[in-house]
Amino acid sequence: MILQLELLLHLCFIIVLISISPSLSLDLELGNGDDGFERDDFPAPPDFVFGASASAYQVEGAADQDGRTPSIWDTYAHEGKMDGATGDVACDQYHKYKEDVQLMVKTGLEAYRFSISWSRLIPNGRGPVNPKGLQYYNNLIDQLISNGIQPHVTLHHADLPQALEDEYGGWVSPNIVKDFTAYANVCFEQFGDRVAHWTTMNEPNVFVLGGYDIGFLPPQHCSAPFGVNCSRGNSSTEPYLAIHNILLSHASAAALYKQTYQHKQRGFIGINVFSYWFIPRTETQHDQVATQRAMDFYFGWVVHPLVYGDYPRVMKKNAGSRIPTFTSAESAQVQGSFDFIGLNYYVTLYAEDFSAALNIQERDYTADSAIQIYPLDFNQSTFEYPITPWGMEELLEYIKQNYGNPPLYIHENGQRTRRNSSLEDWSRIEYMHGHIHSLLNVIRNGSNARGYFMWSLLDSIELLDGLKSSYGLYYIDLDDPELKRQPKLSAHWYSKFLKKKNFTPHSASDADHQRYFSR
Ligand code: FCB
Repeated sequence: MILQLELLLHLCFIIVLISISPSLSLDLELGNGDDGFERDDFPAPPDFVFGASASAYQVEGAADQDGRTPSIWDTYAHEGKMDGATGDVACDQYHKYKEDVQLMVKTGLEAYRFSISWSRLIPNGRGPVNPKGLQYYNNLIDQLISNGIQPHVTLHHADLPQALEDEYGGWVSPNIVKDFTAYANVCFEQFGDRVAHWTTMNEPNVFVLGGYDIGFLPPQHCSAPFGVNCSRGNSSTEPYLAIHNILLSHASAAALYKQTYQHKQRGFIGINVFSYWFIPRTETQHDQVATQRAMDFYFGWVVHPLVYGDYPRVMKKNAGSRIPTFTSAESAQVQGSFDFIGLNYYVTLYAEDFSAALNIQERDYTADSAIQIYPLDFNQSTFEYPITPWGMEELLEYIKQNYGNPPLYIHENGQRTRRNSSLEDWSRIEYMHGHIHSLLNVIRNGSNARGYFMWSLLDSIELLDGLKSSYGLYYIDLDDPELKRQPKLSAHWYSKFLKKKNFTPHSASDADHQRYFSR
C-alpha cells in the first residue's frame, strides 16, 4: 500500500515536472546572461571562490586500506545503522582522486572543500603518522593545486577515531583537546605550505545533537527519555560538554596555527556551523521571542563564544549548571579565534514557542531551547527541500548585524533528491540558482561572504540518509563496479555559470593575503 502511494506520488511528480520543464529549460541558459547574474558579478578569486564540498567518510572508501583504522562512523555503519550502507568503498575517491580532480576542472570549480580522515593520517588518533595517509593527502592537494583548484580543508567532519571514543569517550572528555591539537599540528606542518584555508570542525552543533542528545548518530550517547536505545550517555549534560570541548579544541588548534604557522604560511583558520534560518510560526510575541531563541540555540551556541567569549544568555539561563562555564583564560582563547565562519545552510523552518518544556525538571538541549520547529513545506515523495534562498539572505544579514560581519563561506548548500531518481535534476538547478542569486544580493548589501561551496560534487554516502538521498552534481551507481561518474544537468548548469568569466585562475600570494584582511 505504502509502495503504491509512493509510486503514485512519484508519478504525480513526473507529471508536474513535465509541465514545468519548458520554463525551467529557459533558466538552464545560465551563463548566456539569461539568469540575471554572472560569475563576473562576484569578486574574482582569491576574494571569492566557487566550489563543491565533500567529506572523507562520505567519498574516500578504502576504509581498511593502507593503515587506516575505524572512525565512529565505520562502527555505526557496520552495525547496520545506515540501512546497510557503509563508507567501505563509497565513491572510492581514495583511488579515483585524479579522475575526480579532472571532473572538477571540467566543471570549472575554483575550490574543493574536503576533509581529512583523522584515523587515516594518525591511526588510532594519537601517535605516529601513517606514511600512506600522508602520501594520499599530499597527492590530492598537489593534484588540486596543479590544476588551479584551491584546497579548503576540514580537519574534523564527524569521523572521530573510534580508538579515542573507546579510550576516554571522545568529545565529552577534556583529553580530546590535546589529541586534536596534535592532529591539527601534523596537518599544518605537512600540508600548510599548500593549504591556505583550514576549518577545524564541520557543524559540531549537528553531530553533537545527533550523537549525544537524541543518540541516533555516532557515537550514540543518550539517556532516557530523550534518546532511542541508549546504553550510555547523558542527554541533559553531554551535548553541552561536547560542544564545550569542541570549542576548546578549535581554539587550541587556532592558537597553534596563528602563533606558529600563519605568519609563514599566510593562510586562514575558521570553524563551520550548521544553521537554519527561522521564522515565527505565528505573529504572536511568544513565537517571535522563540524565533530569536532558536537562533541562539542553533547558531549562537557555537558562534557566540567565538565572537563574544561566552554562550548566549538564554542558553545559560535555561541550561543552568549543565552548561559548562569558560574560565577567563578559556574565554579569552575562544573569543576571536577565527578568521572566518563556514556556514552550512539548507532550509528555513518555522519556530514555535514551547515554553511549557521549561516546567519539566529533567531537561535536555531540546527542552532547554523551549521551541518546536516545523518545515515550511516538505515533499515526502521527492525528498526535496523547499527552496528558501531568501532565508539564507536573512541569515547572512543577521550575522552581519549581530556578529560583526565576519568573513564567511557558504560551506554547504544544495538540493536533496532521491537517489537514482533522474539525471535531469531541475530542482537542484533551481535551488542553486536561487541561492547563488541571494548570495549576490547580500554581498551587494555589504556581507563579507568569500565563497560558495555546493554540497556535493558526487552522489556520496549520506550521513543522515545513507543511500536514500543524493546531492551530487555527478551521479554514481554504487552497484556499478567501475563507479562511473555521470554528469547531471546541474553539473552542466554550474559549469556554464562558472566558465563564463573574465579572469584567469591564480593561486594566493602575499598581496592576496593583505587584500583579504583589508577588505
Ligand atoms: C550536512 C553534512 C554533510 C552532508 C549534508 C547533506 O549536515 O555536513 O556531510 O551529508 O548534510
